[in-house]
Amino acid sequence: MLGRKKKALVLYHTKTGHTADAAKAVARGLESRRVRPTVKRIKEARPDELADYDMIAVGSPTRGAKPARVVKRFLKSLDKKALKGKTATSFSPYAGFRGKAAVRRMGRLLRRRKAKVLRGVAVKAGAPLSLWKGPDIREKDMRRLEDLGRKLAKKG
Ligand SMILES: Cc1cc2nc3c(=O)[nH]c(=O)nc-3n(C[C@H](O)[C@H](O)[C@H](O)COP(=O)(O)O)c2cc1C
Repeated sequence: MLGRKKKALVLYHTKTGHTADAAKAVARGLESRRVRPTVKRIKEARPDELADYDMIAVGSPTRGAKPARVVKRFLKSLDKKALKGKTATSFSPYAGFRGKAAVRRMGRLLRRRKAKVLRGVAVKAGAPLSLWKGPDIREKDMRRLEDLGRKLAKKG
């Protein structure tokens, strides 16, 4: 449709807040490219909502080198072709061990639902096992997340 502003859904799970910060940074990047983002906790999202969006970004803390269970469960619950025609990406704060593996896992789950997947971003933040909040995402990693939002806006 001519002139329609594109829409993106940024879904995330968080325990100590870092993935929420990351989700907001991705949303800022999308907004800077005139895409309208909706940022939402994955627990509050329904699979049928995804149909309303052109792009999807999914964020999870790294848990045992994987995405959090609630994130995996949501992505696996989607219809096989739920993301057909959409562009998607993923991001994951991690304390220091295998954040990229969690990002790749989310990428595979998105691809299996037929999304066109852009390589995601892992950013160091937080404490091991999230026993306390730990260090915040660094400024330069915030910029990488904003760039991810811009890239998604461009490809989506
Ligand atoms: C059960 C559990 C497992 C975790 N496993 C990993 C891990 O494998 N690698 C890692 O670097 N961090 C791991 N973490 C730490 C979190 O990824 C890190 O603290 C992250 O910043 C938390 O994000 P949040 O504030 O959005 O919850 C784990 C945390 C929990 C609670």
